Amino acid sequence: MLATKQPALRHFWYPVMPVSMLDDGQKPFRLLGENIVLWKQSDGTLACLKDRCCHRTAKLSLGFIENDNVVCGYHGWTFDGKGKCVRIPQGGNMENSTLSVPSYHVAEKYGYVWVALDEPLTGIPDLPEASDASFRKIDQFYEPWKIGALRLMENSFDAAHVAYVHRNTFGSTDRPEISKKSVIEMQPFGFSYTTEAQVEVRGTVAHKAVQTNGTQTTRYNESVWYMPFMRRTAIRYPHGLVHVLITASTPVDDENTMVVQWVYRNDTEEQVSTEDVIAFDRAVTLEDKLILESCEPDVPLAVVDGEEMHMASDRPGLTMRRMLTELLDKFGEKEQRFTNIAAD
Ligand code: FES
Ligand SMILES: [Fe+2]
Repeated sequence: MLATKQPALRHFWYPVMPVSMLDDGQKPFRLLGENIVLWKQSDGTLACLKDRCCHRTAKLSLGFIENDNVVCGYHGWTFDGKGKCVRIPQGGNMENSTLSVPSYHVAEKYGYVWVALDEPLTGIPDLPEASDASFRKIDQFYEPWKIGALRLMENSFDAAHVAYVHRNTFGSTDRPEISKKSVIEMQPFGFSYTTEAQVEVRGTVAHKAVQTNGTQTTRYNESVWYMPFMRRTAIRYPHGLVHVLITASTPVDDENTMVVQWVYRNDTEEQVSTEDVIAFDRAVTLEDKLILESCEPDVPLAVVDGEEMHMASDRPGLTMRRMLTELLDKFGEKEQRFTNIAAD
């Protein structure tokens, strides 16, 4: 499925950047192949427009903000937060002007800027830990990966990859089998997936991050997949530590993804420093990145001539593929691939 070629995917919210990135002016982003420009207005609300001036197509993100409006850096046409052209410095009666650029849904939540390019089908996911005082929040990663967005989502629900991809951190090739207790429960725009796993605790950073002196522990995982490209994984340990990983693979285009990850933990800075929490998850995510960037970016939704073969532990990923197929069906869309685009 090529995310940029499936308009149905424009109907969801995506976190595009930490809101603090807008403190010093407008910023560009590329979402689902669409160039957008974002800025913060003086009342704290956000604005998001297509990053293309309707005069001579220049990128508005190269201009500047003046009185809450974005001024094109080419000839100064000026647009308000809804995209209406409010000033042409060289002259022109703006009273009945219909000059405008497209605007998009934009909101702030969890410290990030969220954008939906078309009317969203569902809200920004509700994260209970965000308003629970017993949890602290640590922003971890905001970085581009050279992958298709769905690869990371499937990987996040793939219990079988831990033994191999993470064999140097918390996995072990001695224990490749996955729990028989895994359960998927369907939700309107996603599913929950519960499972458990014995994991290794190796090295000082891991011992600090997991807060145990043992060499092994058990993770009880409750994950939620929020269609199309976000997950929440609550990891509970036997001694009461809980960390809740939020990962979004925000689709830049069909081969590039902005990985946004933060974590909620029910421990304190005195128990484990932010630096140590990030150091452990850094090592783990770099292991995922190396392998995922070696996979083909386009994930097939349909089973095509054994293009990819499957095993039982692939069930969450295959459920995503099925639900995304159903979504496309509802919008009357055919799955677009690099192959059928070349043939068209
Ligand atoms: S291209 Fe933007 S004002 Fe001319
Ligand atoms: Fe992983």
